[in-house]
Amino acid sequence: MSELLIAGGRVVDPARGVDGRLDVLVREGEVVAVAPDLARGGSYERVLDASGLVVLPGLIDMNVQLREPGRSADETIASGAAAAVRGGFTAVAVMPNTEPAVDDEAGAEFQVLQGKRAGKAWIYPIGAVSRGLEGKALAELAGLKRGGAVAFSDGDRPLRSAEMLRCALLYAKMLDRVVVQHPEDYDLAKQGVMHSGRVSTILGLAGKSAASEQVMVSRDLTLAELTGAHLHLGRISTAGSLELIRVAKHKGVRVTCDVTPHHLSLTDEAVESFNPCYKVDPPLRTQRDVEALIEGVLDGTVDAIASDHAPHSPEKKDVEFQFAPSGVIGLETTLGVVIEHLVHGRGMPLTRLAELLSAGPARILGLPGGSLAPGAPGNVTVVDVDGAWTVGPEFVSRSQNSPFVGWTLRGQARYTVVDGQIAYAAEPAPAG
Ligand code: DOR
Repeated sequence: MSELLIAGGRVVDPARGVDGRLDVLVREGEVVAVAPDLARGGSYERVLDASGLVVLPGLIDMNVQLREPGRSADETIASGAAAAVRGGFTAVAVMPNTEPAVDDEAGAEFQVLQGKRAGKAWIYPIGAVSRGLEGKALAELAGLKRGGAVAFSDGDRPLRSAEMLRCALLYAKMLDRVVVQHPEDYDLAKQGVMHSGRVSTILGLAGKSAASEQVMVSRDLTLAELTGAHLHLGRISTAGSLELIRVAKHKGVRVTCDVTPHHLSLTDEAVESFNPCYKVDPPLRTQRDVEALIEGVLDGTVDAIASDHAPHSPEKKDVEFQFAPSGVIGLETTLGVVIEHLVHGRGMPLTRLAELLSAGPARILGLPGGSLAPGAPGNVTVVDVDGAWTVGPEFVSRSQNSPFVGWTLRGQARYTVVDGQIAYAAEPAPAG
């Protein structure tokens, strides 16, 4: 029998309204009890001392690229799953922009199987909306669901056809799945390599305007309202997009959204260094946008924070800015950046942290977990909220394209428990 008692920590579980010093008992991979002083008088197969630490429902990253199949030099499911647990994540949802794209049942099944073989963070495929991510014909959505897909998306390629998105939303609604759209009007944005504004003008680089995101957000919200389906807008980066979403939510549109840690902590001024590690899609925006995103995170308009982990090997990424691929890794830094900037920096309560990185993603994708209710998966993240650490230059990820290398952050996973087993320990695992 596998049994683990996580003792003496501050359990923060907003889905159950729990915030206090409690013990968590996990048996055969399931939460069986969350109560005070379970450690007193009982004997357990393994005891993890969580005193002075925060115990959260296992964190879930709902927007990750792991590059398998097809680009294993950048990342594999095994290396990405190991990076995830080091970053405190017990489960990740994997985007279909692989080579070939994950657009059928077999592709989804393959990713699930690779995740089981890796034995680290749980892997949930997000299946392609369109065949081959070409935006022309719908993929086999029912087959993708059978294969384990928890959502449908064309990854970083926004669905340009409104009719294609309308049909996808209707099918997804029938299949009880969410459509994840990365909103960007391709024609407005296609030449841009950074945010279009003062900095791009000074640098002489072609820009992507805030409007190129907001135009698509507005169109997609109209389709969500028309179909009554659940639309999730990923990687929201502008103040204007967030205001459109806020109004839509108020009208009762079934829309959720996420933002990334880099859009909460960096602006387009970072591009003045021409370091390709600051080239991302959507691009880093202005301080006004950063402040608006933080406001949305604090006031509940934003439903989740997701890393948009986008590994690129050094050979590909370390080239002239305008020729570099977009994207940064984030599995190992998201928790630290969010705790440093929002918990310590803006006083965000830990209950909100748990909502954004666990309960929210679970609710949006309809996943088990997001809470430590008895019967929930034995996925638990034990966090040292005040421990300072320095990012990089080494990572568990196969790639190192992080914009946070050298940053000192307070907040990191001390233990990541998956299926009742300690999948990552920042210190030697406890004896016994
Ligand atoms: O900058 C990005 N690169 N953003 C995305 O959403 C996709 C990612 C990638 O796959 O490289």
